[in-house]
Amino acid sequence: MVPCLLYVHDISISVVSCLLHLFARRTFHLKLPMPRLSIIVPTYCEAENLPSLTQRIFVALRDQAYDFEMIVVDDNSPDNTQEVCRQLATEYPLRLLVRKTERGLSSAVIAGMNVAKGEILLCMDADLSHPPESVPELVAALENPQIDFVIGSRYVPGGSTEDGWGLFRWLNSKIATLMARPLTSTSDPMAGFFCLRRDTYHAARQLNPIGYKIGLELLVKCGCRNIAEVPICFANRLHGSSKLSLREQLNYVRHLRRLYRFRFGWLARCVEFLMVGFSGAFIDLGSLSLLLKAIPFEWARPVAILTAMTWNFFLNRAFTFAGARHDSILRQYLGFVSACAMGAVANWGVSVGLMKTVSLLKDTPLTAAAAGVVVGAVFNFLLCSCFVFRYKTAPCTTVELSSTGSPELRVSVKSTSAASQSGKNV
Ligand code: GDD
Ligand code: MN
Repeated sequence: MVPCLLYVHDISISVVSCLLHLFARRTFHLKLPMPRLSIIVPTYCEAENLPSLTQRIFVALRDQAYDFEMIVVDDNSPDNTQEVCRQLATEYPLRLLVRKTERGLSSAVIAGMNVAKGEILLCMDADLSHPPESVPELVAALENPQIDFVIGSRYVPGGSTEDGWGLFRWLNSKIATLMARPLTSTSDPMAGFFCLRRDTYHAARQLNPIGYKIGLELLVKCGCRNIAEVPICFANRLHGSSKLSLREQLNYVRHLRRLYRFRFGWLARCVEFLMVGFSGAFIDLGSLSLLLKAIPFEWARPVAILTAMTWNFFLNRAFTFAGARHDSILRQYLGFVSACAMGAVANWGVSVGLMKTVSLLKDTPLTAAAAGVVVGAVFNFLLCSCFVFRYKTAPCTTVELSSTGSPELRVSVKSTSAASQSGKNV
């Protein structure tokens, strides 16, 4: 009974304070010293879109009981984005941050968040792909203290993408989402329309934004576990063209690798090492079949093995152990070849040993060989990590998961009413 009364008391206080605040705002044009919400908008050549965006945001938030600021982070656009912003700032609570030397969507968003004054940080595009009318709903979802990240999603029930997305862009988005699946189970981790609390943002570790997917970067690096998804209709850009280039898509792959390393530590490195090894098997067999056209098997075999080892060496040096390239390349190459030779001996020893000692495996030599391959690969990986490619500093740190280790919780906000935000959707 008492907790219930306290709850009612709490609700009545917040309702009264909201009403008072709204009244004061409307009547005396009262402004809070700190806006509750900071909307960060990265821009590059968005002069034509900014007036409608600002006006629609203002209309959408006019009746909310909180103040907001808009921070436009422009990378010195050659169109008149900056003049348009200065003009808009005379009428709306808009701040312009111009970066003259840096370029990039993600780093622009981080720059905006660093100067934001609001308790809630929201990010959205300038081109009106993200409906400003959904901003209050995203913000309201954060009223649930359990939620630490809110996404404006195209892929939850009620969400959509306006017609005109070619098969290529749709497929691109789906594949990119699938590649991020080990990091998050949200339906739209590619979204650039999201919000989080300032405190959550400040808890981020090792922010390293490259490319376009700043939402995913924050979701992972801030250790967000409870994510709400608000359905939105993703509209086609109003004016101008998208800046998503092939380069940005390659950046996404680099970005994902970093996030995997961050989340899974040495395990991610191990998987990369195995993938390189797998590609090496194709090089081995491919080069063998070519060599057999010219030289006998007993010569072709070692040459093919060495070709595959060299291939693996360069891939591992460039990717798996990138960052451990300070040693001389020749020394690392010789070290790698020796590690592979020792891995092969371990492989041979384990398979032969198992065949001889475990009676069950006598009739299944392939099982014994498979066990040898696994031990050989692990042996090889350990030798490479500890002796061949040594890092001067720790290559990465893993993020601590929540103490309960509970899986990420997704909450899908189905109704347009903010208060009805609930309902688990895993
Ligand atoms: N400051 C800055 N610097 N802003 C940039 C830059 C840059 O280098 N590149 C793009 N922007 C701004 C654009 O002006 C726009 O406001 C926003 O970032 C998104 O850029 P678009 O070029 O419109 O991106 P998109 O439509 O291809 O991608 C959108 O959809 C993705 C999901 O499919 C964005 O919302 C992405 O964030 C989202 O992931
Ligand atoms: Mn766009």
